[in-house]
Amino acid sequence: MAVRRLYPDQPASFSFTAANAAWAQATIAKYPPGKQASAVIPLLWRAQEQHEGWLPEPAMRLVADMLGMAYIRVYEIATFYTMFQLAPVGKKAHVQVCGTTPCMLRGAEALVEVCRKRIHHDPHHLSADGDFSWEEVECLGVCANAPMVQIWKDTYEDLTPALFEKVLDGFASGRPPKPGSQIGRQASCPEGGPTTLKDYAKAGK
Ligand code: FES
Repeated sequence: MAVRRLYPDQPASFSFTAANAAWAQATIAKYPPGKQASAVIPLLWRAQEQHEGWLPEPAMRLVADMLGMAYIRVYEIATFYTMFQLAPVGKKAHVQVCGTTPCMLRGAEALVEVCRKRIHHDPHHLSADGDFSWEEVECLGVCANAPMVQIWKDTYEDLTPALFEKVLDGFASGRPPKPGSQIGRQASCPEGGPTTLKDYAKAGK
């Protein structure tokens, strides 16, 4: 995983839209007195969504001020979790390739090669048209369907390089594929259907 540092070219300021500011106040009010800092992750996430998919430093300070937190505590959270993007990302897709052991053993390196070929040789760089970016991240919790990638809030699983290219084609054309297994498995059930307890299923028990 790359070192996570703040982007050098930051906007001068950040403020929530009126709708997001009202949403933020309602979110903060859900927590008991003295526990407002618990709202830090939803507020940072909303700021990221408002700011074209990445979280600028002035937004971190705004959220810290809203929650009565030291700036460094918000910086720590934003730089720790890979759900927060610290630099501009692709307009159509930011691809997070899981590179932890189960995905690596099942072919994640080949997915990284697809990213290098189609998007940019290096992670955290925009493609020439600005539509795509990619990075390698640690386990995203879908190990039984390795290898996989996450794009925005969804996961695309059971990938081969060819299936991954189809996923990227879908985002490029504005018609992303259905999330989940790309070979038709239901969740992490066996490929081709059940392999055990078949008699039990037939008996309708
Ligand atoms: S190792 Fe890739 S999702 Fe867990």
